[in-house]
Amino acid sequence: MKILVTGGAGFIGSNLVDALVERGDEVVVIDNLSTGRRENLNPHIKFYETSIGDPGLADIFEKEKPDIVCHHAAQIDLRRSVNEPLFDAEVNILGSLNVIVNSIRSGVGKFVYASTGGAIYGEPQYLPVDEKHPINPVSQYGVSKHTVEHYLHLYALQGELNYVALRYPNVYGSRQNPFGEAGVIAIFAHQMLGGEQPTMSPIL
Ligand SMILES: NC(=O)c1ccc[n+]([C@@H]2O[C@H](COP(=O)([O-])OP(=O)(O)OC[C@H]3O[C@@H](n4cnc5c(N)ncnc54)[C@H](O)[C@@H]3O)[C@@H](O)[C@H]2O)c1
Repeated sequence: MKILVTGGAGFIGSNLVDALVERGDEVVVIDNLSTGRRENLNPHIKFYETSIGDPGLADIFEKEKPDIVCHHAAQIDLRRSVNEPLFDAEVNILGSLNVIVNSIRSGVGKFVYASTGGAIYGEPQYLPVDEKHPINPVSQYGVSKHTVEHYLHLYALQGELNYVALRYPNVYGSRQNPFGEAGVIAIFAHQMLGGEQPTMSPIL
């Protein structure tokens, strides 16, 4: 099976790539290394250092013809999305759409989208929040990540793409950057290991 992973140099993407290589899949990674790291790249993959918004993506899809696409590349900084909504939308909406359209054109069999559970529901109306909970994002990041689910739903209705959207909550683990904006568990653990009191503050 040939699997194309966008964001495969990042925290979650690189762990996914390692698991896919381990089970014997052929893996192609697209990443612009904006937050991902070259040292996270599995040595047994083919790597394209480029942006998901690049028009050259068409050539990569044409050449590689992946069976499955796991789309993890994103602008994940929630505060940056508030301060730079155009940039956030450019990467998370237009970039994702570029990946989706090229997946359809090259006949991808399954599209896996790394959505978010933490940022799309907004203030909980009940707990625990499940998939039936109303979606009321309170950040531009939440809006941009959820918008892609609408495109995927539409293309599935039109019979163009078979997909699944995974609404990750606060993922934590190896290679996570505790200095980043996302990843509350890594940030709190880092503060506690340093003897600091973790604090929370509203973003808006
Ligand atoms: N970490 C979490 O708790 C969490 C929760 C919900 C959803 N997610 C989603 O999971 C995915 C991976 O997140 P992560 O925590 O591993 O973040 P990360 O920053 O470690 O990984 C994102 C990767 O995408 C790459 N990237 C960013 N912009 C790009 C672009 N324009 N073109 C190509 N590559 C680009 C980065 O270089 C990086 O390697 C994201 O889609 C994110 O929205 C993460």
